[in-house]
Amino acid sequence: MGCSKFNSQETSVSMVVVVVSLLFFSTFLLTDAQPLVPAIITFGDSAVDVGNNNYLPTIFKADFPPYGRDFVSHTPTGRFCNGKLATDFTAETLGFTNFAPAYLSPQASGNNLLIGANFASAASGYYDKTAYLYHALSLPQQLEYFKEYKSKLANLAGSSKASSIISGALYILSAGSSDFVQNYYIDPFLYKVYSPDEFSNILIQRFSSFINELYGLGARRIGVTSLPPFGCLPAAITLFGFGSNGCVSRLNSDAQNFNKKVTSAANQLQEQLSGLKIAIFDIYTPLYNIIKSPSKYGFAEARRGCCGTGTVETSVLCNPKSIGTCSNATEYVFWDSVHPSQAANQQLADSLLVQGIILIS
Ligand SMILES: *[C@@H]1O[C@H](CO)[C@@H](O)[C@H](O)[C@H]1NC(C)=O
Repeated sequence: MGCSKFNSQETSVSMVVVVVSLLFFSTFLLTDAQPLVPAIITFGDSAVDVGNNNYLPTIFKADFPPYGRDFVSHTPTGRFCNGKLATDFTAETLGFTNFAPAYLSPQASGNNLLIGANFASAASGYYDKTAYLYHALSLPQQLEYFKEYKSKLANLAGSSKASSIISGALYILSAGSSDFVQNYYIDPFLYKVYSPDEFSNILIQRFSSFINELYGLGARRIGVTSLPPFGCLPAAITLFGFGSNGCVSRLNSDAQNFNKKVTSAANQLQEQLSGLKIAIFDIYTPLYNIIKSPSKYGFAEARRGCCGTGTVETSVLCNPKSIGTCSNATEYVFWDSVHPSQAANQQLADSLLVQGIILIS
């Protein structure tokens, strides 16, 4: 869907979707019910890591200021953001008043585990070597922790309640960006051996086997984020833009190509695995639209992140001594040179919700 030329039919269809979802959620909020799903269980990378990397020997951490300065607690948590992640907003909309804990944190114990757990690790991806390169948790390691979580849950809640939590939970998977940006594009070996299309095919195989395994462990409602327009990340423009200030279209094409493949792989899995609901959350389109017309969405800056100069800083380079950090990130699309701000995450969450209705209905 183009950002400016909606035809009237598309507009009315999306209006209907929005109205229906608003009715659905307001009914839910007014009745003061339980959350719409019993738990949220998350796998993947820095877009959804809520602090696992704090406990790993990796340089990809965000457990120091100015990360977290606009979070509920106004403290760094390990989230790669000034505040909430898109999936935090989603959890709130679904009716949760607490966020599921980072599985490696001390908070991941006792009753806190009843609302789910987060296994995501910044710099992880579909390609296991991406995670190994940065000492992050690979997806197979995240699944091993999930198995351990399941047995803890059974001890805690009893086996029949535990299995209803496991089958009713919303599962979120975000991966693939690090495989390209922090591995494929900067590894001369990979780059030489595989074309971007071939590398995508490898990632898609890993995606399918991950979903198969997760399904085998009891997951039935899985939302998977698409790749973002990573050619528009401020750091990508700096590194791969050859001095240009615009999005790197070669990188964006790779992301779009991957997104087409992952969508058809997901459709295939849905046909093969009975009782599975799987949705691909398109974050490419909403984020690209915001970056292309920031003022239309309430933003003033899309080329630089708020932290430091905003063109290279992320993780350890975005720290209390970074020079130039903005005083108010509300009008920035990006918080650091790679990760969206809380304000942008809120808008992404709105679009996740509309696309994810199928998972919770
Ligand atoms: C940041 O700016 C927005 C408007 O752009 C304003 O609503 C908000 O209160 C400001 N926040 C802080 C912490 O100054």
